[in-house]
Formats: sequence, structure tokens, C-alpha cells
Amino acid sequence: MKFRDNWEMVAIERVENVSPSIRLLEIAANNHFKIWTPGSHLRVRVKVEERTEIRTYSLIDIGDDEKKYRIAVKLMDEGLGGSRYMWSLQVGDTLEISQPHNHFELSRYAPSYTLVAGGVGITPMISMAYALRNSDKPVRLFYGVRDHTEAAFAKLLRGWLGDRLKLCVAEETGPLDLKKIVDSVAGDGELYICGPIAMLETVSRIWKESGRSMGTLRYETFASSGHYPTRPFTVDLPRFGKTIEVAAHQTLLAALEAEGLEIISDCKRGECGLCVVNILESDAPVDHRDVFLNPSEKEDGKKLCACVSRICGGTLTLDTAYRGPC
Ligand code: FES
Repeated sequence: MKFRDNWEMVAIERVENVSPSIRLLEIAANNHFKIWTPGSHLRVRVKVEERTEIRTYSLIDIGDDEKKYRIAVKLMDEGLGGSRYMWSLQVGDTLEISQPHNHFELSRYAPSYTLVAGGVGITPMISMAYALRNSDKPVRLFYGVRDHTEAAFAKLLRGWLGDRLKLCVAEETGPLDLKKIVDSVAGDGELYICGPIAMLETVSRIWKESGRSMGTLRYETFASSGHYPTRPFTVDLPRFGKTIEVAAHQTLLAALEAEGLEIISDCKRGECGLCVVNILESDAPVDHRDVFLNPSEKEDGKKLCACVSRICGGTLTLDTAYRGPC
């Protein structure tokens, strides 16, 4: 998965809070606008503590024909800082964006479509729901939120899908029953999911245990979500005789690179495995936030993807000599 980006500076044309923690940004792409397909995302350059970093945001199709890009950003108080930068943008501010990429493509030939979203994971599902709204195939969208105020875009989705939208409000009925959803997918039906990493891992495990083809489970990752709060931690690198600090707003990969250590990386979303490093020791829980390592590798705790995964405080001793498969 190689990203070859053509960066363009564009202006923010409209901002709207679509929930207390999710902000819609409308971008005037003008001559830079490229036709995109459901599941696509933009890569965006954000400023975090004077550094430029890249974040990815799913493109949203609200069902009009305007040649604008729309993305939605959840404000993550315990995140790495990218969402705070995105929330600081006002109408008229500029932003550097890539052209659209898509590695969460909607198949045209599935016998049925089950879409599952947790929280802001709804964003890639919006364009899929729009594309599938008049499909003659069975389509369902399960949308899990904590409370009604978080159900961003639910009205729009209800208009397109009617009762095929299954809104699940956790404070009223508990969280999405992922096992029941997977069990309800008929035959070779496809399931598309985007949400917190724990949700992806659970569905992936249930899907596999049910004997289904992994090719019919498609997912989009949330690079910033984890099992534990995002805390600063220390990294010992005995091979180099160095000890470095990883700030709460920083990825392990960024901290290693800032020390001049060259780590191979590509996706920076926990998907390709190029940035995997060997763990020699950790005195705190390892928070695997990737979808590259399999469950037993995560349980072994001997490797982690430096671009997204970290430990929850404490000290991590690493050997950075390991390189994942190309
Ligand atoms: S760069 Fe792809 S998993 Fe880290």
C-alpha cells in the first residue's frame, strides 16, 4: 500500500458541529477536486507542536453533487494532537490535503451488505450508505453510539435507509451485539466495519471463528484509538545506548525518527507492518492499536507497530533491528 501524494493547499469553506465532539469540515477543492469512490479518504497535513504530521480522514458524501470534499473530525482529548489542530481551523483557513485514496472499497458484487460503525467510525459508511440506498441487495447499517447526542448523521442516514439503519444507543440498550450481527450475515454476504480497535478485533475474531472467508470482512482502521489511555512513556534502546521519551501527543515512530533512527514505514495506520519493532521488555501493558499483527502475536507481546501502538506509561525496551515483511 503505497501512498503517492500530490499535496494541494485548499481553503476551509464551512465548519459545523454535527455532535458535541464531531466537527464537519467542508473543503473548497476547486480545481483540485477529484472524483472519489465510497470508502475513500484524504490525507491531511496537521501541525502538532510545531511538527507537521499526517492524518487520514474518510470522505463523506452527503448526497449532493457539489464538487467539495467533506470530512468529519472527532475531538480526541487524549489523542496525539491532530484532532485539536483540525478543530482549531476556521472558515477561510487553509489546509494541505492529498488527492483521495481508497483502500476500503465497496464491492459491487456482494450478495448482501452489512455495514457496522462505532462512533465516528460512521464517516466512511455514509458514502457507502448513499451508494447502496437504492440497491436491490439486502443492506443494513448498524451504528453504535454512547448516547443520542453522538449519533451524528443519523437523520441523513435514516432518510436514505429507513429501518435498514439500526441505531444502537448504548446507554439505552447496551453496546452493539457484534456476535449477533456476524451470525446474521447470510452466506457470502460482506461486512464492512469501522470503529475502535477493540470492535475491529472482536468482529475479526468472531468472523474467523465462524469459518467465513476473511476476504468478505472489510475494515477501516482508527489509528488513534486504543485499549488504554494515551500516556507518555520511556523507551530504552540498548542497541544504540539510548533512552528517549515519547510524549503523549507523539507516536513511538515519530519519537524514534526524531532521534535519527531510521524506521521503515508506509501506511502509518497500523496496517502494512513495515514499522514493526521487537520488544525486549515492557513494564506496562502494550496497547496494540494496529490490525497488522494477529491476536497471538499481540498476546505474545514481542512486537509492536511503532506508527500507532505504544505502552500505557512505564518503560519499553526495544530492539529496532526487526523489519516486517514487505
Ligand atoms: S507504517 Fe504501516 S503499520 Fe506502521
